[in-house]
Amino acid sequence: MSSDPQQGPAPAVGPREVPAWPSPWPYDYAVEGKARTPAQKVERLVPPETRPPVTTTRRGLFGAAAAGWGAFAAAGGVGSLAVVRFLFPNVSFEPPQQFHTKAVGEFGAESVDETYKETHGVWMVNTGGKLMAISTVCTHLGCTPNWQAGDQKFKCPCHGSGYYINGVNFEGPTPRPLERFHLFVDPVTNQVVVDKTRKCQVEQGTCEVRDFYIPV
Ligand code: FES
Repeated sequence: MSSDPQQGPAPAVGPREVPAWPSPWPYDYAVEGKARTPAQKVERLVPPETRPPVTTTRRGLFGAAAAGWGAFAAAGGVGSLAVVRFLFPNVSFEPPQQFHTKAVGEFGAESVDETYKETHGVWMVNTGGKLMAISTVCTHLGCTPNWQAGDQKFKCPCHGSGYYINGVNFEGPTPRPLERFHLFVDPVTNQVVVDKTRKCQVEQGTCEVRDFYIPV
């Protein structure tokens, strides 16, 4: 060790400070107070001149191609599903428009049979010597009235419209009677069949034909 007589003896160089175990990975030492990035760590770990050249292997090429085709196929599958979904639009499954009920004699005189109210939206009404199929849709704004046997009337809970047992309106805001459906007796089963594809309107006089009532 030499020393300059002008500057005095050189400061002694002590051993490098070694961190206690577990020490940080050698290339994790901070540089100027900043932690090294992963790239910097690799840079120090493997000098550029000693790194192997970047090459594309056949396996890697096939792998990339397979991944690309996989993504393409997935996108195609999603597109195909969308097309199939488009071909089968939303369908509401409603009860059949024509349905069998009971034999004529099973509907009691001056009665309202509510068997088909919930399932088909029809009251079977036997009154005045006629059996009729009356719609349960209020002719005001479409609510469903209730049959009030004590008052012998249909009463709509929405705005108070009232109808006689034969469906003719007499109170509330509704402008016209309940509608009626076509009905006939099935000659094979002897049951009354209601056909909702045909209906009549009392106020227009179209309900007075035999298609819309059965004499009882
Ligand atoms: S919908 Fe029935 S009275 Fe208004």
